[in-house]
Amino acid sequence: MKILVLGGGGREHALVWKLRQSPRVSHLYCAPGNGGIADEAECLAVDLKSLESLTALAARVKPDLTVVGPELPLTLGVVDEFTRRGWPVFGPTKAAAQLESSKSFAKEFLQRHHIPTAHYAICDSMEQVRPALGHFHTPVVVKADGLAAGKGVVIAKSKEEAAGVAAEMLSGRMVGESGARVVLEECLKGDELSFLVLSDGERVTPLVAAQDHKRVGDGDTGPNTGGMGAYSTADIVDDTMRDWLVNHIARPVVAGMKVEGAEFKGVLYCGLMMTARGPMVLEFNTRFGDPETQPILMRLESDLVDALEAAVQGRVSEGDFRWSRDASVCVVMASGGYPGTFEAGKQISGLEEAGKIEGVKVFHAGTSKRDRAYYTAGGRVLGVTARAGQLDAAVSLAYEACGKIGFHGMHYRRDIAARALTK
Ligand code: AMP
Ligand code: GLY
Repeated sequence: MKILVLGGGGREHALVWKLRQSPRVSHLYCAPGNGGIADEAECLAVDLKSLESLTALAARVKPDLTVVGPELPLTLGVVDEFTRRGWPVFGPTKAAAQLESSKSFAKEFLQRHHIPTAHYAICDSMEQVRPALGHFHTPVVVKADGLAAGKGVVIAKSKEEAAGVAAEMLSGRMVGESGARVVLEECLKGDELSFLVLSDGERVTPLVAAQDHKRVGDGDTGPNTGGMGAYSTADIVDDTMRDWLVNHIARPVVAGMKVEGAEFKGVLYCGLMMTARGPMVLEFNTRFGDPETQPILMRLESDLVDALEAAVQGRVSEGDFRWSRDASVCVVMASGGYPGTFEAGKQISGLEEAGKIEGVKVFHAGTSKRDRAYYTAGGRVLGVTARAGQLDAAVSLAYEACGKIGFHGMHYRRDIAARALTK
């Protein structure tokens, strides 16, 4: 079959790499793809912000299945449009994607369905923010309602800081339209967990859990990013906890969406905080996580096409995934300045050598390829991913590979999975 993957980051490279292993795939397209994906799939130009462009591309390529990577096309309604035309597509509709595209929708939904989450207040103006802040302790979390690529969340140490951030968001200066509404939230303490499930609108089956590292600096310091690294092991969540998360979070979400007439099909990413009061939902993403997908798919032993198809065709079951007990880790190598402004076009060296290390796969995120050479083309450039029997071995392999790679301004965290190793 012919498969089209939409997107062009590290997550999409991992999807392409895994899909290509399926004997069922005869041709793989990725739009727009990137420098590394171009070695494993046919890359096609597309404007991910334009429904017209996406539709025209699929009309031309006629894929047997389209897999949507990033949130933006979901929010535009690419799944609604393709489904209306009778084209098989993996991902949630625009209405179901609101779980990610609107934090106020997600919070009210969680409250309606009694799913554990932090206390919150939704505000459309500073007149609402000021009195609402009175109900919170500090630190307090200020979030832009809409999509902001990881840049719409600030943990404010004081109420003055929170008010200042809210004012910046509401004015449109900070994250544009996405900040026209803000959500204030109780700050939760604990370990974060990325818990992803596959859903066909009714049934769910979990993927292996992962842990992301959102802050740019070692020891979780500095500003938030899209994710600087992630790891996955068999014991991040034991079977009892996994079942609890399925029964008390994932299943109620999918059931609630169905009741509300917005069936959720695709991957539901539950961003959780494991607090002293139990697991609580921080956020939802309505797609595979980036960079979590890289280490998660490194542990997948069964056919990804079969699983995605089960979701599209409404027959998700326990047996859709078979996982390795190995550990895996992904270290993101970023451009100088990221998550702030950065320059692109720096030549990348050492990729071949890094990729030769047994157990290592270098996924490309923001790269381009010209005359057999690779150049930086984004904030997050590479996701250096390794798999081994034990987490410490996987971490050593990933950093050994990072050591072979170089580009001007490059930076990466040296402590991915370090907390798990000291436990
Ligand atoms: P979000 O986009 O909502 O996941 O927020 C990005 C990051 O901000 C999360 O991964 C957490 O690290 C942090 N965060 C969000 N909400 C909270 C909260 N209520 N308490 C503590 N940290 C939070
Ligand atoms: N790693 C978080 C995300 O995919 O949004």
